[in-house]
Amino acid sequence: MTLLTIDRLSAGYGRSRVLHDVSLTLGESEIVCLLGANGAGKSTLLAAISGILPTAGGEIHFAGQSIVGIGPGAIVRRGLAQVPERRQLFGGMSVEENLLLGAFTVPSKAEIARSLARTYELFPRLAERRGQTARSMSGGEQQMLAIGRALMSEPRALLLDEPTLGLAPKFVELVLKLARDLREAGTAVLIVEQNAQAALEVADRGYVLSVGRIAQSGSAAALLQDDSVRAAYLGGHAEGGTMETRLRRLADAFGSQSTNPQTPSA
Ligand SMILES: Nc1ncnc2c1ncn2[C@@H]1O[C@H](COP(=O)(O)OP(=O)(O)O)[C@@H](O)[C@H]1O
Ligand SMILES: [Mg+2]
Repeated sequence: MTLLTIDRLSAGYGRSRVLHDVSLTLGESEIVCLLGANGAGKSTLLAAISGILPTAGGEIHFAGQSIVGIGPGAIVRRGLAQVPERRQLFGGMSVEENLLLGAFTVPSKAEIARSLARTYELFPRLAERRGQTARSMSGGEQQMLAIGRALMSEPRALLLDEPTLGLAPKFVELVLKLARDLREAGTAVLIVEQNAQAALEVADRGYVLSVGRIAQSGSAAALLQDDSVRAAYLGGHAEGGTMETRLRRLADAFGSQSTNPQTPSA
């Protein structure tokens, strides 16, 4: 069954329109990956779905009901939670205080205690560090905390905005494994990723957003094989690789005398 349906959504900032007629669906217990270059509008789309940004046109249905204009708190209460880009934790507050903020829509103290226990079970590291400030933890641990905070409301669908950005490989794996575990447990996941290869390997389907429009969509397997997706997002041409290998290729393209870009020869 389709849990989230976005139909011809438009949104932007002031008079500048960023999203144009974006349509997308997320099924129950599905992982859907959203790819796109920097500035394509991925975070804008997640902000519009979460009710943080007003929409300018189109419809968003969640669990069969429109959620346009009902406000971010009501959207979380309906079962849709977001892990924002760059985590947005309260650095000076403790791990536990950050987690409890994720349960702001849950009225029952007993239910909050149960959610907290479940979150600590899922992330034992957070339990060990419950009294520590958020900012004293590593990047990977902070990402776990941001995800744990979103799970405190026991969402039916989780929106993840670049959850592996800047993380060590072991945490990248952990985050993607978590997405799979959530799907198995019945939580749908919409994941925005720069790490396209890894994300498409765990996702069921994917969409490519290009300058605010859906340029492509399909099964993750089909997108992994697609030439234009490979070229743009999977290191299929000279744009791929680390900054160092890219600089080297660039240097090579301009002749061997400038192989080291820091010290061009006279
Ligand atoms: N708060 C904002 N005010 C005005 N423009 C913004 C704001 N946030 C993002 N934008 C613009 O909207 C476009 C899409 O940005 P964003 O959704 O952050 O892209 P992505 O997440 O795909 O990198 C960009 O041109 C960006 O400059
Ligand atoms: Mg973004």
